[in-house]
Amino acid sequence: MSKIIIAIDGYSSTGKSTIAKELAKALNYVYVDTGAMYRAITLFALEQNCIVDHEIDVKKLLGVLPMAKLRFQYNKDLGYSEMFLNEKNVEKEIRSMRVSKEVSKISVIPEVRKKLVSMQREMGDKEGVVMDGRDIGTVVFPNAELKIFMTASPDIRASRRYKELISRGENVAYEEVLKNVRERDYIDSHRASSPLVRAKDAIIFDNSDMGLKEQFERIYYYALKVIDKQKKNA
Ligand code: DC
Repeated sequence: MSKIIIAIDGYSSTGKSTIAKELAKALNYVYVDTGAMYRAITLFALEQNCIVDHEIDVKKLLGVLPMAKLRFQYNKDLGYSEMFLNEKNVEKEIRSMRVSKEVSKISVIPEVRKKLVSMQREMGDKEGVVMDGRDIGTVVFPNAELKIFMTASPDIRASRRYKELISRGENVAYEEVLKNVRERDYIDSHRASSPLVRAKDAIIFDNSDMGLKEQFERIYYYALKVIDKQKKNA
């Protein structure tokens, strides 16, 4: 078996998913965006009125959580999978600021993490997978053959995210996006349950001054090296 698990963790808006998607395509692997799963549960919590005035009613959410059915569906035209919540395509809604503002608070809830981590482990069970998130190399797949930890300065990340939101027609201010990036960094790194930390054996990848092509080429090279080693040991 020369197919491997590639874990890409790191701060929000470091471009993890862009690189992970390309890598999966080039290697013919499955790509799993675990942030989309936390975002879909957040959307579900909003729809079920479990978040009122930015406060989460955890008890209410845990009561309805079993009703949240998530699945990824591959979109041939896009070349990657889209997130479905209870059979509805929620790709656009889960990327909105409305969801971004609440998602870190939802992802600190241990029962939510437990549900999603077990789904993620199942997805990576069968074949080569590129999975991005915050705890993939530390919790979901501590034995992943290749771990990348992506980072970039908050300003650079906020301006990338701002451009993305504007291009999608969202009416946001740069300052609001920067504030959200900083807040999510803080919550993601300081939560009790699976905080964002670098796995000891992860490669630190600071892409502040790197274009997409260079990022892809470097990470693809790491992947080929590990796969090659794996083949030789098979
Ligand atoms: O990667 P993203 O920005 O779409 O992730 C959204 C949020 O979900 C992020 O603020 C932290 C959380 N998350 C997490 O806690 N664990 C993961 N494996 C993936 C995302």
